[in-house]
Amino acid sequence: MTQTQVRPLESIDFQSMPSPAFVLDETRLRHNMEILEYVQQESGASIICALKGYSLWSSFPLMRPYLKGTTASSLWEAELGADTFGGEVHVYAAAYGDAEFPRILKLAHHISFNSFSQWQRFKPLLEASSRKVEAGIRINPEYSENKTPMYDPCVPFSRLGVTKTEFRFDLLEGISGLHFHTLSAKNSDTLERTLEAVERNFGHVLPQMKWVNFGGGHAITAEGYDVGRLIKVIRNFREKWGVDVILEPGEAIDWRTGWLVSSVLDTLHNGMDLAVLDVSISAHMPDALEMPYRPDILGGAEAGEKAHTYQLGGGTCLAGDVIGDYSFDKPLEMGQRLVFEDMIHYTMVKTTFFNGVKHPDIAILRENGTLEVVREFSYQDFKGRLS
Ligand SMILES: Cc1ncc(COP(=O)(O)O)c(C=O)c1O
Repeated sequence: MTQTQVRPLESIDFQSMPSPAFVLDETRLRHNMEILEYVQQESGASIICALKGYSLWSSFPLMRPYLKGTTASSLWEAELGADTFGGEVHVYAAAYGDAEFPRILKLAHHISFNSFSQWQRFKPLLEASSRKVEAGIRINPEYSENKTPMYDPCVPFSRLGVTKTEFRFDLLEGISGLHFHTLSAKNSDTLERTLEAVERNFGHVLPQMKWVNFGGGHAITAEGYDVGRLIKVIRNFREKWGVDVILEPGEAIDWRTGWLVSSVLDTLHNGMDLAVLDVSISAHMPDALEMPYRPDILGGAEAGEKAHTYQLGGGTCLAGDVIGDYSFDKPLEMGQRLVFEDMIHYTMVKTTFFNGVKHPDIAILRENGTLEVVREFSYQDFKGRLS
């Protein structure tokens, strides 16, 4: 596998970057693309980008040679995939509305339905379509190793996917694929156990299928991920069932590819040292609250580990807009950059204009070393979101 060397952190001048700003490093993105390309070559699977996790379309020209296309969870994401990435457009949504479905049908190559009632509702439109669109059904294998209910599509009463008992063998005509998504930041051993559940519950359906979409949640580009096992598992599945395999990762696309650069606006004291930053966990890192997780800061450590501990807060008036307690070697200074690590996946796609605080710019650190600001937000963007 060719592996692009990622740009060393020490060579990056964060202090002179605009703040606040999301910064994507192209060398890191290419590094991930090369791993995904290797998986496709060795396993025979197709990999598409889940736009819900990563939609930074200015970077799509770099990604296009490596991936087959995109997967969307809505009409607007499907529009974005067709418009900015090209290749195949796959769509899965928990339910499609009558008004949006005809447009989805014009854009999509694969449409996965979440229920047999949705399939029955839209099947006549697929049959009448002049374009060849493949239809799939999302299944719920009722097996998940996700500990957080927020990210577990197999929780009791889950609306996501058809369970074995609800499956309608009699309505399969016209369905060419199965789709499941039950993983979240998991290794390939979890996928292997999940496939056992898929075979146990839906093995009788698989011989009729042309493709199976293994969803996202494969942490393929993370350190410690067992790529060899993934390749073996996919090859075995393809050979055993005679199906094409599709993976649609979000997080693995842009895992550790960039940062949220912030700066210190003020320091104060109330029982402990405090600092106010020009970013907000609520508006700019909402995924850290939802998951939840504590974002790492370059050069920062757990409270008390280094000489100077601060509670870092956002620049909004929300009392709970607290990023956490971090320690540093030296006292924080006004204007000093604090760089949050791994802030590209699910962060940028979820930001809001809450409180009207300045929205982070979007910048790309190109492979040739230049920093290009590809998007700046203005008062007009803030005003235009509402009416
Ligand atoms: C249906 C589906 N596919 C793919 C993904 C991407 O998952 P991840 O970003 O964990 O790889 C998700 C994430 O929620 C999903 O719901």
